Amino acid sequence: MANPIKINNSFYDYYGERWYTADDDPVALLRLENKVKAPWILSRINKFSKILDVGCGAGFLTNQFALAGHDVTGVDQSEDSLRVAHTYDRSGKVRYLAANAYELPFDDETFDVVTSTDFLEHIDDPEKVIKEFSRVLKPGGTFFFHTFNRNPLSWLVAIKMIEWLIPKTPKNMHVLKLFIKPIELQKYCENAHLKVIELTGIKPVISSIPIKRLFSGKVPDQIRFELTRNLSISYMGKAVKSLA
Ligand SMILES: C[S@@+](CC[C@H](N)C(=O)[O-])C[C@H]1O[C@@H](n2cnc3c(N)ncnc32)[C@H](O)[C@@H]1O
Repeated sequence: MANPIKINNSFYDYYGERWYTADDDPVALLRLENKVKAPWILSRINKFSKILDVGCGAGFLTNQFALAGHDVTGVDQSEDSLRVAHTYDRSGKVRYLAANAYELPFDDETFDVVTSTDFLEHIDDPEKVIKEFSRVLKPGGTFFFHTFNRNPLSWLVAIKMIEWLIPKTPKNMHVLKLFIKPIELQKYCENAHLKVIELTGIKPVISSIPIKRLFSGKVPDQIRFELTRNLSISYMGKAVKSLA
C-alpha cells in the first residue's frame, strides 16, 4: 500500500517573524482571514470572558481577544510560534503556554470559551481533541471553530490553487483526508456534549484583483474574505456545552 500523506506541522517552528510579515506564503491568507474571524467570534462572547485559544500559532486571534479585554490563554505545540505571539501581544496580558491539544494542562470546567481556528484539520483525531476542549469548558461554555470542508472543490481551492499560485507553500501544509465535513464536526461535537448552533462559510473575494497580481507568487493585499452561506470550502461555527 502507498504511504499515506502526513500533515506537515513542523514548519511553524521556522516561520519566526514571517508569521506577521510574509506575503509569499499562505500565512498571509491566514492573516487576512482572521480579519473576518476575530470580529465574528468577539461579537458572540460576553465581556471579560476567560478564553482558551488552542493551536494559537503566532496569536493572530489570541492577541485580539486580549486587546478586547478578555482573560486569554493561548496554547500551541510550537514554542517558536508562541515566542512570536508573545512579542506581538500589545496587551501584555496573554498567557502563552506550550502544550499538546490532546492533553491540555488545565482542570475540568476552567474556561468560558475555547477557540480553535484553522487547527482541527492539522491533527489526526479531531474527535478526541474536541472531547478535551469540552472537558476544560464550563457547562454552558462556548466552543468556536474554523476548519475546511472535505470535497473536490475544497481540494482544488484550498490545496491545489494555493500550491499553484504561491510556490513557497510548505509541502503538505494541508492534507485532504484531514479536512472535515460539517456533518462530521457536528457529530464529534455532539459526542462531546457540545451542540453546534451556528455555522457560516468564509470565502475569498478576488474579483477586483488584477490577473497579473494573482500570478505574482505572492498573496495580493487586495484579497479580502467575507462570510457566505456556502460551507463547501472553509467554515466556522459556534457550539455550546450542555449544562448538565
Ligand atoms: C494553521 S496554524 C493556526 C494558527 C491560529 N489558530 C490561527 O488561526 O492563526 C495551526 C497551528 O496548530 C499547531 N498545532 C498542530 N498540532 C498541534 C497539537 N497537537 N497541539 C497544539 N498545537 C498544535 C501548529 O503548531 C500551528 O501553530
